[in-house]
Amino acid sequence: MSVAKRLGDWFDRRTGWRGMRAEAVAGLAKPVPPRVGWGFTLGSTALGLLFLQVATGVALALHYQPTPEAAHGSVARIMDEVRLGWVVRGMHVWGAHALVALVLAHAAKVFVTGGHKRPRELTWILGAGVMFVMLGLAFTGHLLPWTDQSYWGAVVGVEQTRIVPVVGPPTATLLLGGETVAAPTLTRFYVLHLLILPAILAKLLFLHLWLVRRHGVSPAESADEEDARGHAALCAGGEPYAPNHMLREAIAVAVAAAAVLTAAALWPQELGPRAGASTPEGVRPEWYFLAVYQYLKYWPSQLLGLPGETIGICLLSAALGAFVFLPFLDRSPERRPARRRVALVAGALAVLLWGTLTALGAVSDRSIPAFGKTWTFDTWGRPR
Ligand code: HEM
Repeated sequence: MSVAKRLGDWFDRRTGWRGMRAEAVAGLAKPVPPRVGWGFTLGSTALGLLFLQVATGVALALHYQPTPEAAHGSVARIMDEVRLGWVVRGMHVWGAHALVALVLAHAAKVFVTGGHKRPRELTWILGAGVMFVMLGLAFTGHLLPWTDQSYWGAVVGVEQTRIVPVVGPPTATLLLGGETVAAPTLTRFYVLHLLILPAILAKLLFLHLWLVRRHGVSPAESADEEDARGHAALCAGGEPYAPNHMLREAIAVAVAAAAVLTAAALWPQELGPRAGASTPEGVRPEWYFLAVYQYLKYWPSQLLGLPGETIGICLLSAALGAFVFLPFLDRSPERRPARRRVALVAGALAVLLWGTLTALGAVSDRSIPAFGKTWTFDTWGRPR
Protein backbone atom coordinates (compact mmCIF):
# COMPACT_ATOMS: atom_id res chain seq x y z
CA MET A 1 0.00 0.00 0.00
CA SER A 2 1.37 3.44 -0.97
CA VAL A 3 2.33 5.99 1.67
CA ALA A 4 -0.34 8.39 0.38
CA LYS A 5 -3.05 5.70 0.73
CA ARG A 6 -1.93 4.79 4.25
CA LEU A 7 -1.81 8.46 5.24
CA GLY A 8 -5.29 8.96 3.71
CA ASP A 9 -6.65 5.96 5.68
CA TRP A 10 -5.08 7.30 8.88
CA PHE A 11 -6.79 10.67 8.49
CA ASP A 12 -10.07 9.06 7.32
CA ARG A 13 -10.35 6.92 10.46
CA ARG A 14 -9.91 10.05 12.56
CA THR A 15 -11.92 12.63 10.54
CA GLY A 16 -14.19 10.74 8.13
CA TRP A 17 -12.97 13.05 5.32
CA ARG A 18 -13.66 10.57 2.49
CA GLY A 19 -17.36 10.44 3.35
CA MET A 20 -17.52 14.24 3.61
CA ARG A 21 -15.74 14.60 0.25
CA ALA A 22 -18.14 12.16 -1.44
CA GLU A 23 -21.10 14.05 0.00
CA ALA A 24 -19.68 17.40 -1.17
CA VAL A 25 -18.98 16.08 -4.68
CA ALA A 26 -22.51 14.64 -4.92
CA GLY A 27 -23.90 18.01 -3.73
CA LEU A 28 -21.89 19.90 -6.37
CA ALA A 29 -23.29 17.73 -9.16
CA LYS A 30 -26.93 18.48 -8.21
CA PRO A 31 -28.85 20.69 -10.66
CA VAL A 32 -29.65 24.32 -9.87
CA PRO A 33 -33.10 25.73 -10.73
CA PRO A 34 -33.47 26.36 -14.49
CA ARG A 35 -33.71 30.15 -13.97
CA VAL A 36 -30.21 30.40 -12.48
CA GLY A 37 -27.99 32.58 -14.67
CA TRP A 38 -25.46 35.41 -14.40
CA GLY A 39 -27.59 37.37 -11.91
CA PHE A 40 -27.04 34.53 -9.47
CA THR A 41 -23.26 35.01 -9.51
CA LEU A 42 -23.36 38.29 -7.56
CA GLY A 43 -23.18 36.58 -4.15
CA SER A 44 -20.20 34.43 -5.13
CA THR A 45 -18.48 37.40 -6.73
CA ALA A 46 -18.87 39.31 -3.45
CA LEU A 47 -17.37 36.29 -1.67
CA GLY A 48 -14.42 36.25 -4.09
CA LEU A 49 -13.75 39.95 -3.55
CA LEU A 50 -14.04 39.46 0.20
CA PHE A 51 -11.13 36.98 0.06
CA LEU A 52 -9.19 39.56 -1.95
CA GLN A 53 -9.94 42.18 0.73
CA VAL A 54 -8.60 39.85 3.42
CA ALA A 55 -5.41 39.20 1.41
CA THR A 56 -4.73 42.87 0.63
CA GLY A 57 -5.75 43.88 4.18
CA VAL A 58 -3.27 41.43 5.74
CA ALA A 59 -0.52 42.73 3.42
CA LEU A 60 -1.29 46.33 4.48
CA ALA A 61 -1.40 45.37 8.17
CA LEU A 62 2.23 44.16 7.94
CA HIS A 63 3.32 47.78 7.47
CA TYR A 64 0.55 49.88 9.03
CA GLN A 65 1.11 51.51 12.46
CA PRO A 66 -2.06 52.38 14.41
CA THR A 67 -1.07 55.56 16.28
CA PRO A 68 -1.89 59.17 15.34
CA GLU A 69 1.86 59.96 15.19
CA ALA A 70 2.79 57.04 12.93
CA ALA A 71 -0.37 56.06 10.97
CA HIS A 72 -0.14 58.64 8.16
CA GLY A 73 3.61 58.12 7.72
CA SER A 74 3.24 54.34 7.62
CA VAL A 75 0.62 54.60 4.84
CA ALA A 76 2.89 57.05 2.99
CA ARG A 77 5.68 54.45 3.21
CA ILE A 78 3.32 51.74 1.90
CA MET A 79 2.60 54.00 -1.08
CA ASP A 80 6.17 55.14 -1.79
CA GLU A 81 8.61 52.57 -0.44
CA VAL A 82 7.02 49.14 -0.03
CA ARG A 83 7.24 47.17 -3.25
CA LEU A 84 3.82 47.26 -5.01
CA GLY A 85 2.41 48.79 -1.81
CA TRP A 86 0.52 51.42 -3.83
CA VAL A 87 -1.24 48.73 -5.91
CA VAL A 88 -2.12 46.66 -2.84
CA ARG A 89 -3.54 49.72 -1.06
CA GLY A 90 -5.39 50.71 -4.25
CA MET A 91 -6.88 47.22 -4.52
CA HIS A 92 -7.99 47.32 -0.89
CA VAL A 93 -9.71 50.68 -1.32
CA TRP A 94 -11.24 49.97 -4.74
CA GLY A 95 -12.15 46.47 -3.52
CA ALA A 96 -14.12 47.99 -0.64
CA HIS A 97 -16.12 50.16 -3.06
CA ALA A 98 -16.72 47.21 -5.39
CA LEU A 99 -17.72 44.93 -2.53
CA VAL A 100 -20.32 47.36 -1.17
CA ALA A 101 -21.71 47.84 -4.70
CA LEU A 102 -21.82 44.08 -5.31
CA VAL A 103 -23.55 43.32 -2.01
CA LEU A 104 -26.16 46.01 -2.72
CA ALA A 105 -26.68 44.58 -6.23
CA HIS A 106 -26.90 41.04 -4.81
CA ALA A 107 -29.56 42.08 -2.25
CA ALA A 108 -31.51 43.91 -4.99
CA LYS A 109 -31.35 40.86 -7.25
CA VAL A 110 -32.52 38.59 -4.43
CA PHE A 111 -35.45 40.93 -3.79
CA VAL A 112 -36.45 41.08 -7.48
CA THR A 113 -36.32 37.28 -7.86
CA GLY A 114 -38.14 36.72 -4.54
CA GLY A 115 -35.21 34.78 -3.03
CA HIS A 116 -36.03 36.17 0.43
CA LYS A 117 -39.37 34.33 0.60
CA ARG A 118 -40.15 31.25 2.67
CA PRO A 119 -38.04 29.24 3.64
CA ARG A 120 -35.14 31.69 3.07
CA GLU A 121 -36.15 34.46 5.49
CA LEU A 122 -33.20 33.82 7.80
CA THR A 123 -30.82 33.73 4.83
CA TRP A 124 -31.97 37.30 4.07
CA ILE A 125 -31.72 38.50 7.69
CA LEU A 126 -28.19 37.10 8.02
CA GLY A 127 -27.29 38.70 4.67
CA ALA A 128 -28.56 42.05 5.94
CA GLY A 129 -26.39 41.56 9.06
CA VAL A 130 -23.40 40.89 6.79
CA MET A 131 -24.14 44.11 4.91
CA PHE A 132 -24.21 46.22 8.08
CA VAL A 133 -20.96 44.70 9.33
CA MET A 134 -19.39 45.42 5.95
CA LEU A 135 -20.47 49.05 6.15
CA GLY A 136 -18.93 49.11 9.65
CA LEU A 137 -15.68 47.78 8.15
CA ALA A 138 -15.74 50.47 5.47
CA PHE A 139 -16.38 53.20 8.06
CA THR A 140 -13.66 52.07 10.48
CA GLY A 141 -11.13 51.45 7.69
CA HIS A 142 -11.59 54.96 6.36
CA LEU A 143 -10.10 56.52 9.53
CA LEU A 144 -6.94 54.39 9.54
CA PRO A 145 -4.75 56.52 7.17
CA TRP A 146 -5.36 59.42 9.62
CA THR A 147 -5.73 62.05 6.90
CA ASP A 148 -7.71 65.26 7.26
CA GLN A 149 -10.55 63.78 5.23
CA SER A 150 -10.63 60.51 7.14
CA TYR A 151 -10.41 62.28 10.51
CA TRP A 152 -13.32 64.62 9.80
CA GLY A 153 -15.27 61.82 8.15
CA ALA A 154 -15.03 59.90 11.43
CA VAL A 155 -16.05 63.01 13.42
CA VAL A 156 -19.18 63.46 11.26
CA GLY A 157 -20.03 59.72 11.39
CA VAL A 158 -19.65 59.44 15.16
CA GLU A 159 -21.67 62.62 15.74
CA GLN A 160 -24.48 61.19 13.60
CA THR A 161 -24.35 57.98 15.66
CA ARG A 162 -24.77 60.11 18.80
CA ILE A 163 -28.17 61.37 17.58
CA VAL A 164 -29.71 57.86 17.77
CA PRO A 165 -31.93 57.89 20.88
CA VAL A 166 -30.83 55.78 23.88
CA VAL A 167 -28.09 53.66 22.23
CA GLY A 168 -26.45 56.52 20.28
CA PRO A 169 -24.58 58.42 23.03
CA PRO A 170 -23.01 55.34 24.71
CA THR A 171 -22.09 53.89 21.31
CA ALA A 172 -20.43 57.19 20.32
CA THR A 173 -18.48 57.29 23.61
CA LEU A 174 -17.45 53.67 23.17
CA LEU A 175 -16.24 54.35 19.63
CA LEU A 176 -14.37 57.54 20.55
CA GLY A 177 -12.81 56.40 23.81
CA GLY A 178 -13.09 60.02 24.94
CA GLU A 179 -14.69 63.30 23.95
CA THR A 180 -13.44 63.56 20.40
CA VAL A 181 -11.63 61.59 17.68
CA ALA A 182 -8.11 61.04 19.06
CA ALA A 183 -5.54 58.30 19.76
CA PRO A 184 -8.00 55.99 21.65
CA THR A 185 -10.44 56.29 18.73
CA LEU A 186 -7.79 55.16 16.26
CA THR A 187 -6.95 52.17 18.48
CA ARG A 188 -10.62 51.24 18.73
CA PHE A 189 -11.28 51.62 15.02
CA TYR A 190 -8.17 49.53 14.32
CA VAL A 191 -9.31 46.73 16.64
CA LEU A 192 -12.82 46.86 15.18
CA HIS A 193 -11.49 46.83 11.61
CA LEU A 194 -8.94 44.05 12.01
CA LEU A 195 -10.41 41.88 14.73
CA ILE A 196 -13.96 42.36 15.95
CA LEU A 197 -15.88 43.12 12.75
CA PRO A 198 -14.08 40.48 10.63
CA ALA A 199 -14.82 37.89 13.35
CA ILE A 200 -18.53 38.82 13.35
CA LEU A 201 -18.57 38.95 9.54
CA ALA A 202 -17.03 35.48 9.26
CA LYS A 203 -19.68 33.96 11.57
CA LEU A 204 -22.62 35.70 9.90
CA LEU A 205 -21.32 34.81 6.45
CA PHE A 206 -20.75 31.20 7.40
CA LEU A 207 -24.36 30.93 8.59
CA HIS A 208 -25.61 32.78 5.49
CA LEU A 209 -23.80 30.39 3.15
CA TRP A 210 -24.76 27.36 5.22
CA LEU A 211 -28.44 28.29 4.81
CA VAL A 212 -27.93 28.96 1.08
CA ARG A 213 -26.55 25.41 0.79
CA ARG A 214 -29.24 23.91 3.00
CA HIS A 215 -32.15 25.38 1.01
CA GLY A 216 -30.47 25.52 -2.40
CA VAL A 217 -30.97 28.51 -4.70
CA SER A 218 -34.63 29.53 -4.89
CA PRO A 219 -36.59 28.28 -7.90
CA ALA A 220 -38.78 30.63 -9.95
CA GLU A 221 -41.96 29.01 -8.65
CA SER A 222 -43.82 30.30 -5.58
CA ALA A 223 -42.99 29.25 -2.02
CA ASP A 224 -46.27 27.27 -1.97
CA GLU A 225 -45.23 25.29 -5.06
CA GLU A 226 -41.78 24.70 -3.56
CA ASP A 227 -43.43 23.36 -0.38
CA ALA A 228 -45.81 21.15 -2.33
CA ARG A 229 -43.43 19.71 -4.94
CA GLY A 230 -40.06 19.97 -3.17
CA HIS A 231 -36.93 21.87 -4.21
CA ALA A 232 -35.35 18.93 -6.08
CA ALA A 233 -38.40 18.50 -8.34
CA LEU A 234 -38.32 22.20 -9.27
CA CYS A 235 -34.63 21.91 -10.19
CA ALA A 236 -35.32 19.13 -12.71
CA GLY A 237 -34.15 20.36 -16.11
CA GLY A 238 -31.64 22.80 -14.59
CA GLU A 239 -27.89 22.63 -15.22
CA PRO A 240 -25.67 20.88 -12.67
CA TYR A 241 -24.07 23.35 -10.24
CA ALA A 242 -20.60 22.00 -11.09
CA PRO A 243 -19.21 22.58 -13.59
CA ASN A 244 -21.86 24.75 -15.33
CA HIS A 245 -22.86 27.39 -12.78
CA MET A 246 -19.53 27.13 -10.97
CA LEU A 247 -17.76 28.15 -14.18
CA ARG A 248 -20.03 31.19 -14.47
CA GLU A 249 -19.15 32.11 -10.88
CA ALA A 250 -15.41 31.65 -11.51
CA ILE A 251 -15.60 33.92 -14.58
CA ALA A 252 -17.53 36.58 -12.63
CA VAL A 253 -15.00 36.52 -9.76
CA ALA A 254 -12.06 36.73 -12.22
CA VAL A 255 -13.65 39.70 -14.05
CA ALA A 256 -14.39 41.52 -10.75
CA ALA A 257 -10.86 40.92 -9.43
CA ALA A 258 -9.36 42.09 -12.75
CA ALA A 259 -11.56 45.22 -12.61
CA VAL A 260 -10.34 46.01 -9.07
CA LEU A 261 -6.70 45.51 -10.12
CA THR A 262 -7.19 47.69 -13.21
CA ALA A 263 -8.85 50.46 -11.19
CA ALA A 264 -6.01 50.31 -8.63
CA ALA A 265 -3.39 50.58 -11.37
CA LEU A 266 -5.12 53.29 -13.44
CA TRP A 267 -6.46 55.46 -10.62
CA PRO A 268 -3.98 55.16 -7.74
CA GLN A 269 -5.28 56.20 -4.34
CA GLU A 270 -4.11 59.56 -3.12
CA LEU A 271 -3.01 60.09 0.46
CA GLY A 272 -4.34 63.47 1.61
CA PRO A 273 -2.64 65.67 4.21
CA ARG A 274 -2.19 64.28 7.72
CA ALA A 275 -5.05 64.94 10.17
CA GLY A 276 -4.60 68.22 12.01
CA ALA A 277 -2.67 69.90 9.18
CA SER A 278 -5.79 71.87 8.21
CA THR A 279 -9.58 71.73 8.41
CA PRO A 280 -10.63 70.53 4.97
CA GLU A 281 -13.60 72.05 3.19
CA GLY A 282 -16.60 70.01 2.12
CA VAL A 283 -15.98 66.84 4.14
CA ARG A 284 -18.50 64.29 3.03
CA PRO A 285 -18.76 60.57 3.60
CA GLU A 286 -18.13 57.83 1.04
CA TRP A 287 -20.88 57.36 -1.58
CA TYR A 288 -22.64 54.57 0.34
CA PHE A 289 -23.24 56.85 3.35
CA LEU A 290 -24.10 59.98 1.33
CA ALA A 291 -27.86 59.35 1.27
CA VAL A 292 -28.08 59.20 5.08
CA TYR A 293 -25.79 62.22 5.44
CA GLN A 294 -27.96 64.25 3.05
CA TYR A 295 -31.27 62.98 4.45
CA LEU A 296 -30.40 64.25 7.95
CA LYS A 297 -29.86 67.77 6.60
CA TYR A 298 -33.55 68.22 5.75
CA TRP A 299 -34.76 67.90 9.32
CA PRO A 300 -35.42 71.21 11.12
CA SER A 301 -33.63 71.80 14.42
CA GLN A 302 -36.97 71.42 16.29
CA LEU A 303 -40.06 69.45 15.32
CA LEU A 304 -42.98 68.61 17.62
CA GLY A 305 -40.84 69.73 20.57
CA LEU A 306 -38.07 67.27 19.71
CA PRO A 307 -34.77 67.73 17.86
CA GLY A 308 -35.65 67.22 14.18
CA GLU A 309 -32.62 64.99 13.54
CA THR A 310 -33.76 62.62 16.29
CA ILE A 311 -37.09 62.13 14.52
CA GLY A 312 -35.18 61.68 11.24
CA ILE A 313 -32.93 59.02 12.79
CA CYS A 314 -35.95 57.20 14.28
CA LEU A 315 -37.63 57.07 10.86
CA LEU A 316 -34.38 55.92 9.29
CA SER A 317 -34.02 53.17 11.90
CA ALA A 318 -37.58 52.06 11.09
CA ALA A 319 -36.67 51.93 7.37
CA LEU A 320 -33.54 49.89 8.11
CA GLY A 321 -35.61 47.58 10.33
CA ALA A 322 -38.05 47.15 7.43
CA PHE A 323 -35.11 46.20 5.19
CA VAL A 324 -33.80 43.62 7.67
CA PHE A 325 -37.24 42.08 8.29
CA LEU A 326 -38.42 42.47 4.70
CA PRO A 327 -39.37 38.77 4.33
CA PHE A 328 -42.02 39.30 7.03
CA LEU A 329 -43.41 42.42 5.33
CA ASP A 330 -43.32 41.19 1.72
CA ARG A 331 -45.22 38.04 2.67
CA SER A 332 -46.91 36.74 -0.46
CA PRO A 333 -45.50 33.33 -1.44
CA GLU A 334 -45.16 34.49 -5.08
CA ARG A 335 -41.60 34.87 -6.46
CA ARG A 336 -42.22 35.61 -10.13
CA PRO A 337 -41.51 39.35 -10.65
CA ALA A 338 -44.39 39.75 -13.10
CA ARG A 339 -46.85 38.76 -10.34
CA ARG A 340 -45.31 41.04 -7.67
CA ARG A 341 -45.77 44.42 -9.28
CA VAL A 342 -46.65 46.32 -6.07
CA ALA A 343 -43.60 45.03 -4.18
CA LEU A 344 -41.30 45.77 -7.12
CA VAL A 345 -42.66 49.30 -7.58
CA ALA A 346 -42.17 49.92 -3.82
CA GLY A 347 -38.61 48.60 -4.08
CA ALA A 348 -37.89 50.74 -7.16
CA LEU A 349 -39.20 53.85 -5.35
CA ALA A 350 -36.95 53.09 -2.35
CA VAL A 351 -33.93 52.75 -4.67
CA LEU A 352 -34.91 55.98 -6.47
CA LEU A 353 -35.15 57.85 -3.16
CA TRP A 354 -31.79 56.50 -2.06
CA GLY A 355 -30.20 57.39 -5.42
CA THR A 356 -31.67 60.91 -5.38
CA LEU A 357 -30.43 61.57 -1.84
CA THR A 358 -27.00 60.21 -2.82
CA ALA A 359 -26.85 62.53 -5.85
CA LEU A 360 -27.98 65.53 -3.78
CA GLY A 361 -25.39 64.64 -1.12
CA ALA A 362 -22.69 64.47 -3.81
CA VAL A 363 -23.43 67.94 -5.26
CA SER A 364 -24.48 69.78 -2.09
CA ASP A 365 -22.26 72.69 -0.98
CA ARG A 366 -20.28 72.42 -4.20
CA SER A 367 -19.61 74.33 -7.41
CA ILE A 368 -19.57 72.01 -10.40
CA PRO A 369 -18.70 73.07 -13.96
CA ALA A 370 -21.09 71.44 -16.46
CA PHE A 371 -22.76 72.35 -19.77
CA GLY A 372 -20.62 75.46 -20.23
CA LYS A 373 -21.35 77.06 -16.86
CA THR A 374 -20.50 76.61 -13.19
CA TRP A 375 -23.38 75.32 -11.06
CA THR A 376 -23.34 76.13 -7.37
CA PHE A 377 -25.47 73.99 -5.06
CA ASP A 378 -26.59 74.89 -1.56
CA THR A 379 -26.50 72.52 1.39
CA TRP A 380 -29.86 70.97 0.38
CA GLY A 381 -28.47 70.29 -3.09
CA ARG A 382 -30.53 73.05 -4.78
CA PRO A 383 -28.79 74.97 -7.61
CA ARG A 384 -28.32 78.59 -6.55
C1 HEM B 1 -20.51 39.68 1.48
C2 HEM B 1 -21.83 39.52 1.49
C3 HEM B 1 -22.59 38.38 0.89
C4 HEM B 1 -22.12 37.23 0.31
C5 HEM B 1 -20.68 36.80 0.14
C6 HEM B 1 -23.28 36.46 -0.10
C7 HEM B 1 -23.23 35.24 -0.75
C8 HEM B 1 -24.32 34.58 -1.28
C9 HEM B 1 -24.27 33.47 -2.21
C10 HEM B 1 -22.98 32.82 -2.74
C11 HEM B 1 -25.54 33.11 -2.51
C12 HEM B 1 -26.01 32.01 -3.50
C13 HEM B 1 -26.02 32.51 -4.93
C14 HEM B 1 -26.86 33.74 -5.22
O1 HEM B 1 -28.09 33.72 -5.06
O2 HEM B 1 -26.23 34.79 -5.59
C15 HEM B 1 -26.41 33.97 -1.74
C16 HEM B 1 -27.79 33.87 -1.71
C17 HEM B 1 -28.62 34.68 -0.95
N1 HEM B 1 -28.26 35.86 -0.32
FE1 HEM B 1 -26.36 36.49 -0.04
N2 HEM B 1 -24.43 37.15 0.24
C18 HEM B 1 -24.05 38.33 0.83
C19 HEM B 1 -24.89 39.34 1.26
C20 HEM B 1 -26.28 39.27 1.25
C21 HEM B 1 -27.17 40.34 1.61
C22 HEM B 1 -26.71 41.73 2.01
C23 HEM B 1 -28.45 39.84 1.53
C24 HEM B 1 -29.75 40.53 1.81
C25 HEM B 1 -29.93 41.50 2.63
C26 HEM B 1 -28.37 38.47 1.08
C27 HEM B 1 -29.43 37.62 0.91
C28 HEM B 1 -29.39 36.40 0.26
C29 HEM B 1 -30.51 35.50 0.04
C30 HEM B 1 -31.96 35.67 0.57
C31 HEM B 1 -30.04 34.44 -0.72
C32 HEM B 1 -30.85 33.25 -1.30
C33 HEM B 1 -31.28 33.68 -2.70
C34 HEM B 1 -31.94 32.60 -3.50
O3 HEM B 1 -31.91 31.45 -3.10
O4 HEM B 1 -32.48 32.97 -4.55
N3 HEM B 1 -27.04 38.17 0.90
N4 HEM B 1 -25.65 34.86 -1.03
